Amino acid sequence: MAFVKIASTADLPPGALMQVEIGESTYAVCNVNGEIHALWGTCPHAEGPLGEGTLQGTMVVCPWHGYEFDCRTGANDMEPDLKVARYAVKVEGGDILLDPDQAL
Ligand code: FES
Repeated sequence: MAFVKIASTADLPPGALMQVEIGESTYAVCNVNGEIHALWGTCPHAEGPLGEGTLQGTMVVCPWHGYEFDCRTGANDMEPDLKVARYAVKVEGGDILLDPDQAL
């Protein structure tokens, strides 16, 4: 699969976090000061929906038990080896695109 349109830039202003689904897979996509990042959307702790959490600076905070993952690296703040995968995203015109085959 190649890049797929997942949202418009107007849907994801700086400081916003959203959940996106492509097929059966879920992603957490956020905008940190104009930079778009995408993480696998399922929390490795107990499968909470990361995209329904909150964004605090660069940290995606899981809505279920508060685990935090840096959207720039996918790493948990307390346990850096606990990671969620990151995915390639790009902006074209007013569209945000994600490539589910390009884990970073
Ligand atoms: S499921 Fe995410 S912190 Fe528990």
